Amino acid sequence: MKLALFSSQRYEQSAFNELCPADVETQYFDVSLNAHTCSLCKGFDAVCVFVNDTLSAEVIARLADYGVGLILLRCAGFNNVDLAAAKKHKIAVARVPAYSPEAVAEHAIALILTLSRKIHKAYNRVREENFDLNGLLGFNLHNKTVGLIGCGKIGQAMVKILNGFGAKVLVCDPASPTGAFTLVAQDELLAKSNIISLHCPLNEQTHHIIDKPALATMKRGVMLINTGRGALLDTKACIEALKSGRLGYLGLDVYEQESELFFKDRSEEILQDDVFARLLTFKNVLITGHQGFFTQEALEQIVQTTYFNLHQFTKGDPLTNQVLDV
Ligand code: NAI
Repeated sequence: MKLALFSSQRYEQSAFNELCPADVETQYFDVSLNAHTCSLCKGFDAVCVFVNDTLSAEVIARLADYGVGLILLRCAGFNNVDLAAAKKHKIAVARVPAYSPEAVAEHAIALILTLSRKIHKAYNRVREENFDLNGLLGFNLHNKTVGLIGCGKIGQAMVKILNGFGAKVLVCDPASPTGAFTLVAQDELLAKSNIISLHCPLNEQTHHIIDKPALATMKRGVMLINTGRGALLDTKACIEALKSGRLGYLGLDVYEQESELFFKDRSEEILQDDVFARLLTFKNVLITGHQGFFTQEALEQIVQTTYFNLHQFTKGDPLTNQVLDV
């Protein structure tokens, strides 16, 4: 079984090599998989991809021509795969549905606390021996209303942590989950929350779920956190809301155009993305480069589940973690 692993990073290679089954030969490509690079897949049985690889209908048709039978997503989200095309070409798609919901939830909480207590500013001040507290006034999470849009695995992990802080948790989710929170309609959540955190998948219904009209219904000075997918937010509308003060804080682990930026050292390059550049100018915006998943525990789980998915495929067993076109 020959596996081509795209968007490969050094930290993954050691984890994948360590757990690689004897009958699998894994080749690593640091480029992402897209229409320009998919000829690299010739001679492989399966491809392993991450969040910013592009599995469009065109790419999938070419994978089918090359005899690739399986797409292994080493992530939970599958918005970058044309599932209808995969079905048409009889290419199976499997993912890692839950590697560590706590890893992402804890990262979202880290963004909330860093912004609310201005830790990013304090860190720099103290390094310059500036111990002035002016401008660092924070706010308690206790008794604040936190709205979660989407309450699946990561959302539920958020609920547990937020209840520990004594926050009031509102949830909107069409699946009507149950737990220690109040289920409300999206409008009510937007209007009542002091902090809003996004934990739904990206799809046609949720694309720009936070747009200009949605922002207009939020409390003035609200904190918005996105560890889901970049295109859940209309980034330009968020910039306008930051300028007007409607958004008081913005914490992002994902960005609409992140495939052009994230997961590479670009410190020697001139930043070409003007929207991202504008985001960086706000003192109340905190951005991390899609690292919510990035803990030791989650990485091990990702590798184990990916090889498990490959093993089931090789044996011809039904794929426990198959992603189907619905
Ligand atoms: P999940 O599938 O367990 O839960 C998603 C929830 O969102 C479901 O309960 C679903 O009913 C709900 N939902 C769907 N449409 C909605 C809508 N219009 N409004 C409100 N809720 C809606 O997924 P999980 O594991 O909790 O992950 C959520 C998302 O987080 C993933 O789809 C992925 O995009 C993102 N993610 C980000 C990571 C990072 O490193 N930053 C890592 C892992 C996932």
